[in-house]
Amino acid sequence: MSVTVLGLAGSPRRKGNTETLLDWTLDAAADVGADVVKYRLRELDIGCCIACDGCAEGGECIVADGMDKLYPLLREADSIVLAAPIFSMGMSAQAKAMVDRCQPFWAMKYLLKQPLRPDGAPERRGAFLSCAGTRFSTVFDGARQVANYFWHVLEIQPIGDLLCPGVDAKGEIEDYPSARTVAEDIGRRLGELR
Ligand SMILES: Cc1cc2nc3c(=O)[nH]c(=O)nc-3n(C[C@H](O)[C@H](O)[C@H](O)COP(=O)(O)O)c2cc1C
Repeated sequence: MSVTVLGLAGSPRRKGNTETLLDWTLDAAADVGADVVKYRLRELDIGCCIACDGCAEGGECIVADGMDKLYPLLREADSIVLAAPIFSMGMSAQAKAMVDRCQPFWAMKYLLKQPLRPDGAPERRGAFLSCAGTRFSTVFDGARQVANYFWHVLEIQPIGDLLCPGVDAKGEIEDYPSARTVAEDIGRRLGELR
């Protein structure tokens, strides 16, 4: 019996700063015995929600695209890590599009009054990892609000954000004090049995 940890890389930049944070986190989760599944959202080709209200009928998205792979995992993973950079004061469009496409879960809960999780299912855990090029005091505010909405709609308990300001060029995260230690600590907590 092991925990499944779903890692979502939300940057269009392959192996960039936030994907590095994600990899540190997922490696630590695997080290404590978790089954780790990672997707790069850009490669999944996820379209924007078209507000068709199809999910309001049966609780399922009627658009066929890369989200088909994610829906079961978003519903069943024991832990989820969302890693996304700050673009234009919010999370990257790839990450935001994925969050918007979680509308079927919202419809299930609030319109169809169906439970997302079986009765007595163990607590699910989540973490948001991000980098921003600047050090503006509010630079992570918008993205954190969206991440918190994501945890709420998926009935996930967030165990902490890892937010790294002043990290811009590819690879700069390697020099960020304590980022790796914190990411690995988060990974272990996401990956441990509960
Ligand atoms: C289109 C675009 C918009 C950005 N907007 C912001 C911003 O509003 N504030 C900021 O601090 N950094 C901004 N950045 C910088 C990124 O947050 C930074 O380079 C980050 O380290 C990228 O992470 P990644 O390597 O995982 O893609 C922007 C970068 C891009 C490409």
